[in-house]
Amino acid sequence: MGREALVIGGSGMLAGVSLWLQEAGYHVAVIGRDRKKLQALVERSGRPEGFSLLPVDYHQTDRFREVVASLVRERGGIDLVVAWIHSTAPHALPAVQQELSAQRRTWRLFHVCGSRAYKEPPRVADVPNCLYRRILLGFRLQGDDSRWLTNEEITVGVRAAIQGDLPFSVVGQVEPWDRRPV
Ligand SMILES: NC(=O)c1ccc[n+]([C@@H]2O[C@H](COP(=O)([O-])OP(=O)(O)OC[C@H]3O[C@@H](n4cnc5c(N)ncnc54)[C@H](OP(=O)(O)O)[C@@H]3O)[C@@H](O)[C@H]2O)c1
Repeated sequence: MGREALVIGGSGMLAGVSLWLQEAGYHVAVIGRDRKKLQALVERSGRPEGFSLLPVDYHQTDRFREVVASLVRERGGIDLVVAWIHSTAPHALPAVQQELSAQRRTWRLFHVCGSRAYKEPPRVADVPNCLYRRILLGFRLQGDDSRWLTNEEITVGVRAAIQGDLPFSVVGQVEPWDRRPV
């Protein structure tokens, strides 16, 4: 395993993944907009030196790109990215890919996607040095009902995908599709 991770959207439902990566020995950079949410994450860990907190809005592509580029410079490279980026920011992931593919080392991109990606897979560029892995967030059937995943289930599923280095994985289920929650 490498030692430098970046978790985009890592102060929300992926907070458990950010904390786990730090415990697993990574230095973890976390992107979110709200400084207080980022700070709360570090306080949960008790190891502030294990994190870089990067408050930035990924819709502001130029600023976002700058933040990623300066992280790469400061840390000397990034080995692992976990990206949960809303579809309202289509330029954010390409910006990350461009900035990180300029580095020499191979890096892994774990792209966390909502269930819609099952029917409409996002187009992601193939860039040098990047091993792309997709994680689909599905749902759970419970008797006659269905529900979306909890943060804990998402954390466990994303951890498993990273540990297994799985090129494609589904957390929960995406079939039967017509039983997904409305
Ligand atoms: N299939 C499923 O079951 C499924 C799929 C997706 C979500 N969910 C559930 O739905 C809940 C809500 O999802 P969510 O994505 O709104 O919540 P979330 O993961 O709790 O928050 C999104 C994360 O991205 C950051 N973020 C959001 N917009 C950003 C922006 N413009 N620039 C930079 N960072 C940004 C947030 O921090 P800031 O707010 O500080 O920016 C936070 O760290 C989750 O808690 C999860 O349980 C379920």
